[in-house]
Amino acid sequence: MTKKVLALFGSNILGGNTDKLLSAAVKGVEDAGCTVDRINVAHLHAGPCNQTYSCMIEPTCAIEDDMQDAYRKIKQADGIIIATPVMTYGIPGALKCFMDRCQPFYMAKYYRKQPFITPEHAKIRRTLFLCIGGMNAPDVFTGPVLTTKAFCAIVDAKYADELLQNDMDTIINLDNKPEVLAAAYEKGKALGERIVKMRDGE
Ligand SMILES: Cc1cc2nc3c(=O)[nH]c(=O)nc-3n(C[C@H](O)[C@H](O)[C@H](O)COP(=O)(O)O)c2cc1C
Repeated sequence: MTKKVLALFGSNILGGNTDKLLSAAVKGVEDAGCTVDRINVAHLHAGPCNQTYSCMIEPTCAIEDDMQDAYRKIKQADGIIIATPVMTYGIPGALKCFMDRCQPFYMAKYYRKQPFITPEHAKIRRTLFLCIGGMNAPDVFTGPVLTTKAFCAIVDAKYADELLQNDMDTIINLDNKPEVLAAAYEKGKALGERIVKMRDGE
């Protein structure tokens, strides 16, 4: 029985603070006994949704690009981690395009009422959201959280836990905040342990 977590990385910067946060959570997931598939979303060859609405009828997107492989990985996952910086009070454009391109999941679930994810699998699937922002301002995570919650509903992976760290312009490097990296590890581990428990109980 697979115990797979899909990690979606929304920053462009490999080795940066978002990467450190994601890597800590991924380590937790792996220590719990799950395997992790990571997609560096900004580095995919994938364009935005072009609104032909072909996915109202067809079970996949008409655009042949890296999203086809991503759809398979989203369907297989028992859990999802999304790690992203805030950009302009939202999520980065590439990650937003990725989420928009999951419209085939929306159409399958809400329009054709034939969801890709079985009810049994949906019970297992959870999302952990990790998000960092440079500013120390109110509402900086409101947009990213709303968008991510919508995505979670569409792909049937319940928004279950979050770690939101603002003030990165002052903190500069998350290595200066080992307690935040430790919290990301623990949240990843809890996600992984829940998947293992539910999968082994089947
Ligand atoms: C184009 C752009 C827009 C940004 N907009 C915001 C913003 O609206 N609010 C905020 O708190 N931080 C904003 N930031 C700051 C990033 O969220 C912050 O620097 C983060 O730590 C980057 O993480 P990374 O280096 O791992 O990608 C922005 C950064 C960029 C590049």
